[in-house]
Amino acid sequence: MGNTKNFLENYECKGNTLKIVKFPHTVLAQKAQEVTVFDDSLVELCRDMLFTMYHAPGVGLAAPQVGKSIRLFVMDAEFEREKVIMPDDSEVYRLSNFHPQVLINPILKDMEGSIIGQEGCLSVPGIQEDVERYEKLTVEYQDMFGEHHVMEASEYLAIVIQHEYDHLDGLVFLDRLNFFKKKMLKKQLMKKGKKA
Ligand code: CO
Repeated sequence: MGNTKNFLENYECKGNTLKIVKFPHTVLAQKAQEVTVFDDSLVELCRDMLFTMYHAPGVGLAAPQVGKSIRLFVMDAEFEREKVIMPDDSEVYRLSNFHPQVLINPILKDMEGSIIGQEGCLSVPGIQEDVERYEKLTVEYQDMFGEHHVMEASEYLAIVIQHEYDHLDGLVFLDRLNFFKKKMLKKQLMKKGKKA
């Protein structure tokens, strides 16, 4: 594994762009499987998921969103994205201040409080809705090498973790909305999906 081992500490935002699956793809509705093998291909997947997330852009990306039904997500709630106008008037985005995180086989604990924030999802393009979540939680998880960690999160970070965790249980944020809103938005997306 060598130099892949610490690519998170010396993060260079390199990788391949993966295809993000869109609702109502069936993989988004499946309960994902535990990760049991921690090998080079897992590290490569994490690297590519982070690259894909940063360029989408998004603050989180779960493995089912790239067609892999395993309990893994990546996130970065802090990176910056700045629009730069090139001499030929084209626009590019400069990404900086990376704090990539990889959470494998996460378990949420000690949830408390309540917070409402606007959420969107790379797999549910074009829709943003207020969702109620726990305000504070603890997450136990493994890193790319199988080592166990514990993280406490609140507010925005707690929202991101709950949103991504839901993907591992086959839920999208629409499932957290009230019955009528959920039904209406899902119907709308099904229609769009059929046309595409
Ligand atoms: Co999502």
